[in-house]
Parts: sequence; C-alpha cells; structure tokens
Amino acid sequence: MIVLNDVKKNFGELEVLKGISIEIRDHEIYGIIGQSGAGKSTLLRCINGLESYQSGSITVDGEKIDISNPKKLRLQQKNMGMIFQNFNLLTRLDVYDNVALPLKFWGMKTKTAQAREKINGLLKLVGLEDKVHARPAELSGGQKQRVAIARALVLDPKILLCDEATSALDPGITREILALLQKINREMGITIIVVTHQMEVVKQICERVAFIKDGTVIAEGKPEDLFVRPSKEVKAFLQEESDHLPSEGVNIQLFFTEESSDEPVITMMARELGIDFSICWGKLEDFRSNVFGSLVINIRNEDQERVLSYLKDKKVIAEVL
Ligand SMILES: Nc1ncnc2c1ncn2[C@@H]1O[C@H](COP(=O)(O)OP(=O)(O)O)[C@@H](O)[C@H]1O
Ligand SMILES: [Mg+2]
Repeated sequence: MIVLNDVKKNFGELEVLKGISIEIRDHEIYGIIGQSGAGKSTLLRCINGLESYQSGSITVDGEKIDISNPKKLRLQQKNMGMIFQNFNLLTRLDVYDNVALPLKFWGMKTKTAQAREKINGLLKLVGLEDKVHARPAELSGGQKQRVAIARALVLDPKILLCDEATSALDPGITREILALLQKINREMGITIIVVTHQMEVVKQICERVAFIKDGTVIAEGKPEDLFVRPSKEVKAFLQEESDHLPSEGVNIQLFFTEESSDEPVITMMARELGIDFSICWGKLEDFRSNVFGSLVINIRNEDQERVLSYLKDKKVIAEVL
C-alpha cells in the first residue's frame, strides 16, 4: 500500500534520508525505530506530503505523493490521520470541537446529526464518551492522546501515522494507548505506521519494523526475528551485550522462536544426555503476546557434539559462541 523507493532528502548540506526503501502492507502495524535525529519524523512527513523529498518515490495506493500537486495531495492527506507526541490539541476548544476540527477544515458542518454520530462514536471508541465537553487542560496525557486519535480518525482515513505517540506517557498509559491502536487496526482495518525510539512499542504492537540509523534502513523484518537473533549491526543498534561469559568450556546460544517446539527441551536434554550445564545469559520477551528469546548455556568441551546434535534433533537453533 505504501511504497518508498530510494527516497533521499536533505536540508541544505545535511543529508537526512539517504535512500530509504520500504514497503508497508495494507492493514499492518509497521514500526520505524531509531534514535533521536535518525530522520524518522522527516520520513513520516515525506509520506504524508508535509515535506518534499529530492529523489526516489513515495506512492500510497499506487499514487505518487507529490508536493507540487497540492490539489491531489490534499485528497491524499485526507486519507492519512496523524498523531504526535505532544497531542497538538487546541486548548480553547472542548474535546468535541477538537475532534471536529478536520471536518471544519474540509468545510463540513460539525453539529449535524451525522457529524454528532461520527464524533460521539469515535469518542466512545477511544473511551472518552463522558468527556465530550471537557477542555484539554482537564485531561490527563493519555486522555489527550485519545482525543488526538479520535481527531485523526474523523475523516475515515485508511492510514494512521503516529510520531512518538507514546513518548510523553508513562509505561502503563503507553500500554493502554498501544492496545487502543491495535484495536483500531483490527476493528477498522486501518494501516498504522508507528515511529518511535521505544523498543517496547515495537515489541508490543508492530508486525514488522525498520531500524533506521543516520537516514538509512539497517534492518527490516519481524521484531521477534530482529530482536531474538540480531545481526551484529542490529546488536550494536540495540546496544545489547552478552559478554561476561565463562572462558572455560563451550558457550552455546539457543534461540526460541515461533518454530521452536513447546517441549521443555533444556531439562529433557539434561536428563536424557545425563549432563550438567550452567545458564550464563538469557532473555525472554513478549512480542504481541508470544514469548520468544534466547539463552546461553555453558557446557563441558566433551559434551559439545552430543549437545549440538540433540538440539538439532529437537529443531532448536543453536550457535557456538
Ligand atoms: N526543517 C528542518 N530544517 C533543517 N534540518 C532539519 C529540519 N527538520 C529536521 N532536521 C534535521 O534532520 C535530522 C533528522 O531529524 P528528524 O527527522 O526530526 O529525526 P527524528 O524524528 O528521528 O528524531 C536532524 O539532524 C534534524 O536536526
Ligand atoms: Mg522525531
């Protein structure tokens, strides 16, 4: 649905996007993660035509995003709702009128029965039906973001772009907002792009993710694949260390992925091979409610062959470190 092909963008001398190529599919939740200054917001702004780009192409539903065609661009932008870290609500307007703003912008009436039904329906969806006439100042951060989400959906977009939407919220509220985004994705079929510097966000809701660093994509794929079995480059990106391993014996890293069996392989191996080993390092993490991870065990040199062939039989991915 959204295809970026070798997109380059610079601000004067500064190259911010150095040839970004990614494809975002219909109805998926796609993450773009990277540190501050990596070019994430610029990328998102290029996708919805708030910013021009120098070369390459961006197409949404087969139509090129072209800032020199403002009439067409405006229609394309109608199809893309956007939310931000700081919510961008108008403080003098109540919740209802904030949600109604895009309708107003498009010259539509905001107090008709149809508009009321739409706006009240969205406020119900985001769980704010009892705050219709509250002002932003009377709302918590999480509630403000809910208003912003309702506003972003009021023109029935097919795409929702989220720029650090949870970065200003505490962890509990972040989880609630992410659950809401997931519900919107599932129930309304809206494609969501989540730009963030928070790993937790990607792990919790993204089906696929691009890691961006200094304006380039260094890795792309399912979060569980990238996080559970990171390449050297991704490891550096994640600033993850699994050193402090014993220098004696053999260290073997096991990976538990979607394909791994549910059998208690580790204890079975100890029993069946009659060996002992120590666990030196491990991580198990939740990805969209599945648990994946890896484990480093230390075994005696003489057990290496038997252990590796046992693990192979059990279809556990293992690497000697
Ligand atoms: N309008 C602009 N003019 C000049 N430089 C900009 C502008 N917007 C962003 N930048 C620069 O582009 C780089 C990427 O910024 P940004 O896309 O905001 O990164 P991120 O969202 O990943 O933190 C930064 O070095 C930033 O200073
Ligand atoms: Mg940003």
